Amino acid sequence: MTESRPRNPGAIAEPATVRAMFDRIVPRYDLMNHLMTFGMDLRWRKLIATRAAAMGDSVLDVATGTGDVAFDIRAAGARTVIGLDFSPEMIGAARTKGAARGSDIEFLIGDAMALPFPDNSFDACTVSFGLRNMPDYAAAIAEMTRVLRPGGRFVCLEMTPYRKPVLGRLFSLYFEKIVPIVGGVLSGDIGAYRYLPQSVANFPASTQLVMLMRAAGLTNTHVTMLGFGTVAIHTGTKELGSGS
Ligand SMILES: C[S@@+](CC[C@H](N)C(=O)[O-])C[C@H]1O[C@@H](n2cnc3c(N)ncnc32)[C@H](O)[C@@H]1O
Repeated sequence: MTESRPRNPGAIAEPATVRAMFDRIVPRYDLMNHLMTFGMDLRWRKLIATRAAAMGDSVLDVATGTGDVAFDIRAAGARTVIGLDFSPEMIGAARTKGAARGSDIEFLIGDAMALPFPDNSFDACTVSFGLRNMPDYAAAIAEMTRVLRPGGRFVCLEMTPYRKPVLGRLFSLYFEKIVPIVGGVLSGDIGAYRYLPQSVANFPASTQLVMLMRAAGLTNTHVTMLGFGTVAIHTGTKELGSGS
């Protein structure tokens, strides 16, 4: 239940540990995502890309990883797309993909907690399976909101703590026991795939996340549940008249 979970402000591991973990798992990262979600992640990423690109030409994808959301945003029509991540290995993989596709997306190494952009720079800002790993959820949302133009949209795709009793037990078995074994075998890093369910359990439930978004100055908040209630898209609009 929501009340019994710890109300930590951010990720269960230090940023340096998180970065090193993502650096290590890059080679099998995409494959593991598709296996773990039975390919549903492809559709989820396209969904948020469409919602972001609908806002205008310039979109920032924070915690871009190997860049799949950024590529989908560009394909959905946004003309200026930037992907940012603090893992050099992830950004290296995104740049390699971009070069192979002849993409003009800019992939930058940078920290989501201190984005290297002025206030009001982007029509939309996406973050896909990234927020859960950041050291302070409220501060991260505030920073992404800062770089949005007034009226711009924040779009977050993230795992959400699962609470349905019967399916919940099955999902826990799958997510807490099977995924770490398969992830461990494929990536050689069982720790990373043990961290995954633990980090989701620590993440705010949807109602709390919406409260954090509103506190950051986002309005018109909307939640779409996906993957049998295991994943959610949260969107919000930066208040008009808000300068930063
Ligand atoms: C689970 S991956 C998600 C990657 C990609 N968005 C996707 O949908 O597959 C989480 C990413 O968040 C990045 N990340 C975590 N904390 C970050 C931070 N403070 N600043 C920038 N990137 C961060 C990690 O390096 C990693 O690439």
